[in-house]
Amino acid sequence: MNNFSNLNDTFTLNNGYKIPCLGFGTWQTPDGDTAVNAVIEAVNLGYRHIDTAAAYKNEKSIGKAIKESNINRKELFITSKVWNKDRGYKTTLEAFDKTINDLQLDYLDLYLIHWPASENQFKDWDNINLETWRAMTELYKSGKIKSIGVSNFMPHHLKSLMNTEIKPMVNQIEFHAGFMQEETFKYCNDNNIVIEAWSPLGTGKMLDNNILKEIAKKYNKSAAQICIKWCLQNNTLPLPKSVTPSRIKENTEIFDFVISEDDMKTINSMPYFGGSGLHPDKVDF
Ligand code: A2P
Repeated sequence: MNNFSNLNDTFTLNNGYKIPCLGFGTWQTPDGDTAVNAVIEAVNLGYRHIDTAAAYKNEKSIGKAIKESNINRKELFITSKVWNKDRGYKTTLEAFDKTINDLQLDYLDLYLIHWPASENQFKDWDNINLETWRAMTELYKSGKIKSIGVSNFMPHHLKSLMNTEIKPMVNQIEFHAGFMQEETFKYCNDNNIVIEAWSPLGTGKMLDNNILKEIAKKYNKSAAQICIKWCLQNNTLPLPKSVTPSRIKENTEIFDFVISEDDMKTINSMPYFGGSGLHPDKVDF
C-alpha cells in the first residue's frame, strides 16, 4: 500500500512526472463566482491539484482563481480534457489552444481524452482515438503538456494506444464503492497507468450508505472521508468535488487514519450501487 501523509504527496507517472495524490474535482461546479471561490478556497486549504475539462465550461473561472491565488505555477498541477466534439488531430490541437487560453496558462500538467470514440457511434472509432492521441503526443513532445492520458477508456479502447510511441500515463474513470470497474482497474494497474477516480463519492450517493456510515463511525470520520481514503488505499487518485468550504476542508482530513484490511475487503465487495450509468460504449454524447 502507498503511504501518503498529506494531500501533496505524489503518485509518480510512467514518465517520471509527479502528481499530487488528492485532486480537487470541478465537474458540475458552476462557472462564475462559485467556481472562482471554490478553487481559491481549495488552494488556500492546500490543494495544488485541480481537475477541470473544456466540457465543464468553467475553465475561465478556474483560470481566474489560479491567477488570483498567486501560487507559483510550478507548485500547481492542472488537468484538463479534450471534449468529444474535438476528437481528431487538428481539432484536438485547436481545443488545447482554447483550453490554455481560457485557463491563462502556458502549459498543462495533464491533458486527457475525455471519452473514447466508441464502436456504438463510429465505424472508425479506433482510428479516431489514435488521431486524437497523435495530437496529444505532439503537444506532449513539444513540452506544452507535461503528461497525457485518457478518461473513461476501457481496456479495448486502450489497446491501440498502448502500441504507440508514448503510452497513456493516466486513465480517469468513475470509481467508487459499489463501482470499481474491476477489468479496467486491473488493466491499468498491470500497465502502469495511474487511475484517477471521478465521483469518488458517487456524486454524493455514497454518503447515506449504511455500511459506509458504520465503518466511518469506527474511525470517527465521515462517510465522505472513508470513500476518499478508500480510493487511495486502492492505489487510485481521488478527485472529490465540492463547492462548500467545510466539505472542501473535510475532504483533505484523511491522512491521520488507515482503513483496516477487513474494512477494505468489506467495501471492495459491496454490490453495485450508485453508478452514473454512463457506459463508455453506450453514451450518446
Ligand atoms: P457540494 O459541492 O454542494 O459541497 P463527487 O465528488 O463524487 O462527484 O461528489 C460531489 C458531491 O458530493 C457534491 O454534491 C458535493 O456537494 C458533495 N460533497 C462533497 N464533499 C462532501 C462531504 N465531505 N460531505 C457531504 N457531501 C459532500
